[in-house]
Amino acid sequence: MTNRFEETPPVSTNSAEKTVAASRVRMNELVMPNDTNPLGNLMGGRLLQWMDVCSAISAQRHCNRNVVTISVDNVEFKKAIKLGEVVVIEAEVTCAFTSSMEVAMRVWAENLRTGERRLCTTSFYTFVSVDADGRPVPVPEIIPESDFEKERYEQAAKRRELRLEISKQNKQVERKNK
Ligand SMILES: CC(C)(COP(=O)(O)OP(=O)(O)OC[C@H]1O[C@@H](n2cnc3c(N)ncnc32)[C@H](O)[C@@H]1OP(=O)(O)O)[C@@H](O)C(=O)NCCC(=O)NCCS
Repeated sequence: MTNRFEETPPVSTNSAEKTVAASRVRMNELVMPNDTNPLGNLMGGRLLQWMDVCSAISAQRHCNRNVVTISVDNVEFKKAIKLGEVVVIEAEVTCAFTSSMEVAMRVWAENLRTGERRLCTTSFYTFVSVDADGRPVPVPEIIPESDFEKERYEQAAKRRELRLEISKQNKQVERKNK
């Protein structure tokens, strides 16, 4: 893991353009008995909730407004996270559209006795910035700086297109099931 979070600049507000770094969030959660299934593994729903909170903070750090979750991309639970381990979630805004923002996340499990950290999952959540009446409002532009941020920014439009297409198909199925 890099130490780039130590370099996170202070939060700036009311700016028309903001960096990816300004939206970075790192969240730590200790897996307690109430978070696990009978096998002692962290429940998927609890992890999704922690990811939702972490990415919502990142989105709000970018737009300085209330946000709501509009979509959650595929999340795979390929490696179990055990009772007593620490879940480390890192989130940052990758791309800002008109009222919506894509947030990328990486999730690690940390064993506090050995110090070992393993990457468990990654995902993208999308948030919409809303006013006091819950209506979408425009968000500041984002400035990707590193080559990695620029590449991910350029790929974001394609991911957004796929989400909107899946949403359209789901609505067609819903209509047929009425
Ligand atoms: C989010 C909400 C305000 C959007 O309102 P709306 O009238 O549907 O607005 P729009 O259709 O114009 O969509 C707003 C943005 O969401 C994006 N969007 C819509 N569906 C999406 C999807 N499935 N995935 C990703 N983005 C999506 C649109 O592309 C648009 O982005 P843009 O402004 O950057 O172009 C409304 O759907 C809502 O309140 N949903 C409930 C949110 C909620 O309760 N979340 C869970 C708890 S926080």
